Amino acid sequence: MSIPRSILARVEPEARDLEVVQGTWPEGLTGEVFVSAPHPLTLGPPHSFFGRGMVYRLSLQPGTFGAAPGTFAWRHALIDSPSARLQDKRPDVFRTTMVGVHSPFGFTNAANTAPMPFGDRLLCTWDVGRPVEVDPVSLRFLGEVGHRSEWVEMIEHPVLPMITSTAHPVVDPDRNCLWTVNTYFGQLFVVRWDGEGPVRRWPVAGAVLPQSVHTITQTREWLVVGDCAFKVEPQVLAGGDRTVPNDPDEPVYLIRKDDLDAARPGDEVPCRVYRLAPEMNHYYARYDDRDGVVVLFEHTQNADIAMAQRAGDVDARGRPTDPRLAGLYGFAMTPTRTTVQRFDPESGELKEMAHLYTPDGHFHTRQLSAFDWSAEGWERPEAVHTVYHGFRPEAVVQRMIDLYRDRIDPALLELDESPSRLATHSWDGLDTLSEWEFALEDFPTSPIFVPKDPGGDGRSRHAGERPGGRVGWVVCPVLNDSGFRVEVFDAADVGAGPVATLASPRHTVPFVLHSCWMPRAVPAPDVERTRFADELDRVGALPDDLASAVREVAAELG
Ligand SMILES: [Fe+2]
Repeated sequence: MSIPRSILARVEPEARDLEVVQGTWPEGLTGEVFVSAPHPLTLGPPHSFFGRGMVYRLSLQPGTFGAAPGTFAWRHALIDSPSARLQDKRPDVFRTTMVGVHSPFGFTNAANTAPMPFGDRLLCTWDVGRPVEVDPVSLRFLGEVGHRSEWVEMIEHPVLPMITSTAHPVVDPDRNCLWTVNTYFGQLFVVRWDGEGPVRRWPVAGAVLPQSVHTITQTREWLVVGDCAFKVEPQVLAGGDRTVPNDPDEPVYLIRKDDLDAARPGDEVPCRVYRLAPEMNHYYARYDDRDGVVVLFEHTQNADIAMAQRAGDVDARGRPTDPRLAGLYGFAMTPTRTTVQRFDPESGELKEMAHLYTPDGHFHTRQLSAFDWSAEGWERPEAVHTVYHGFRPEAVVQRMIDLYRDRIDPALLELDESPSRLATHSWDGLDTLSEWEFALEDFPTSPIFVPKDPGGDGRSRHAGERPGGRVGWVVCPVLNDSGFRVEVFDAADVGAGPVATLASPRHTVPFVLHSCWMPRAVPAPDVERTRFADELDRVGALPDDLASAVREVAAELG
C-alpha cells in the first residue's frame, strides 16, 4: 500500500499557516503558487477528475495573507462559478459520469485542472469549458472567457454549455493575447482572446482531432496542436465500458500565426499536418523557431487517464483494489517516454532530436512538468523538471491491461513497485542532470519552477536573473497520509534534496492537479467580463423551478 489513501478522502479543505519544518527558507524565493484541484467533497467515483473546481494559493513570503509571522499562508476557495452555484442549489439534478457532470442545465464547467497566469490575472482551466477568471487575492469567480455564443457548443444545452477546449492555453508575449482551441466533433478551431471582449475563432482547414485536445503550444511564428490520448467512446457517456485503447499515434497540426492575423474570424486557415507516435498529452514548444519548430513531447504511452478504478476491479498484481482508491485514474502500464521533435514547416520533415526512455522503469508515470514559463525562459528553455510517480501496480487495473494487452511487453507489468522521483532533464537533449527519490509513500504533484530575483532591470516580471529553468527553485507539493508537505529544491541541483520543507501538523491534502507560479497576487483589474445574466436566452427551455434557480444565480453574480 503506497499510494496515500487520503488522496481521495472527502474532507473539507483547511486554511493553514505552514511552517518551515526542515532546512532554511531560501533568500529571494518569492511570489505566489496556485494549485488547481477538484474539491475534495466532490471527488469521484466514478472518476477523480470531475469534482468542482477549487484553487489553493501558497504565499512564498512568510507572514502575508493573514499568516502568522514566520509562517506561510496556504489558502483556498471553491470557484463559485454558475456551474458550482447551480450544483449547490439543485444537487438533486446533477449526475456525475465518466466524462463529466451533466444536468438539465447542461454540462458543468469544473475549471479544476490548471491555474495559469495572464499577466497579473489568473485563469483556471479544464478541457470541457471556457477558461474561468478568478481573483488572485480573494480567489472568487469573476467570469468565463468570451460569451457562450462566441464558442461552438457540442450540444446546445439550456444554460451550461458543453464547450470542448483545452486546459493548457498559451499566452502570446508578442500579441499579448491568449491562444486556445475549440473543437466540434473533432473539427479544430483556433481561438484568440485579448483579455477583454469577444473571443475570435477560426476553423483550421482539414484539421480533425480523433480523440481530444489537452494542450496547445506555440513558437514565435506557429501554433502547435496535437491530438491527445483521452478517448471518449459514445457508450461511455451512458455508463458503458471502453472497448478500444487510445489511438497509438496522433495527428499534429501546425498553424501559422500570420495566417490567423490576416484572416477574418470564421474564415478557414491552412495548416501543416504531421503524425507522431506514441500517444501524448502534454507538449511544449521552444519559442525561438529560427531553427525549426522544436517541441518537447511528454508521451503517455500505455497510460489511460480516461479510465478509473471501480468496485470489483483487480490490480496489476491480481489483488482486489482498495475501495478508497475508487475513481483513481489509470496510471501508466509501461515506462515513460519523452521526445524532442523538430518540425520543418517548409519541407514537411519531422525529425526526432532526443529521446528518453528507461526500460527498467526508472522513470515511470509522469505528472505535468515544471518549466520557466517567462517569455524569456521560453525563448531558449534549458531545463525541464519532471515528477515521476513510479510504477504503481495498485493504480493499474486488469480491465486496462486487457484493453492494452497487445501493446505491452508482459515483463514490464512485473517490474517492482517504485517510488516517485523528481528529475531535471536538459530541454534539448533530455539528459538527466539531477534527480531526487521520494519515499515510497510520498505522492508528489505537479512541480512549480520559481525564478530567482524575478523582474529585474530589462526583464519581464516573470523572468529571473538567468531565464531557462536552472536558476531558481522547484517547489513541489507532496501528498502523504502522514501529512502534506511542500518541498523546495534548488533548481540547479534537485538531487541534493529539499533545501526547505513546509508543513503543518495533522494536515493532509487530497488529490490536486496542476499548478503555477505568479510573481505577486494583486486584485484583478476592473475590465469588461462576460456576465452569466447575459447568457440566459435559452432558460425558457427549463422547468420553472430550475429556471428560478438559474435566475437566482444570475442575480447573485450581478
Ligand atoms: Fe494537463
